[in-house]
Amino acid sequence: MTNGKNLRALVVYTTRTGQTKDIAELIAEGIRFGGFEAEVKNVTSIKKESDLEGYDSYVFGSATYHGEMMQGMKTMLFLAEKVNLEGKVGGSFGAFGWSGEAPDRIFDTMSNIFKMNMVSGPLRLKSASLGGGIKMAQDYGRELGKKLSES
Ligand SMILES: Cc1cc2nc3c(=O)[nH]c(=O)nc-3n(C[C@H](O)[C@H](O)[C@H](O)COP(=O)(O)O)c2cc1C
Repeated sequence: MTNGKNLRALVVYTTRTGQTKDIAELIAEGIRFGGFEAEVKNVTSIKKESDLEGYDSYVFGSATYHGEMMQGMKTMLFLAEKVNLEGKVGGSFGAFGWSGEAPDRIFDTMSNIFKMNMVSGPLRLKSASLGGGIKMAQDYGRELGKKLSES
């Protein structure tokens, strides 16, 4: 199945123990269900502005540690500031234990600084596999795809 427009999404994650990577893969699956292309990359592979250019949608994710997003995502957001992401479809996500600040902070930056066309809110999951996490992450990808098809 294709969307006929070759719209592409980039899902970038940063993780310490792998939960946020699993969520990233599930979101990408959900995006692909809608017939869109989705690439998943570790933040460590985003080194220059051109690594972020050329996509129609961006989904950024980080686990929360000590009340914050991980350093790799902070550094990448400063890089992303130099790329024109205005109006692109955006979302954020992350695994968390109890407070889960990272997805909220990323979402706010994408919305307020990058002026992106954001989905309804960030996706925060305690685990990719517990409590319906698989479906919630896939559904988040579907929501991004729906917004992409309307953009
Ligand atoms: C040292 C340490 C600090 C943490 N701090 C927070 C925190 O401030 N808020 C929170 O919601 N979860 C916190 N967590 C829980 C992690 O966010 C949780 O284990 C998450 O699933 C890790 O995701 P990852 O596998 O993508 O690294 C902390 C975990 C550790 C080990």
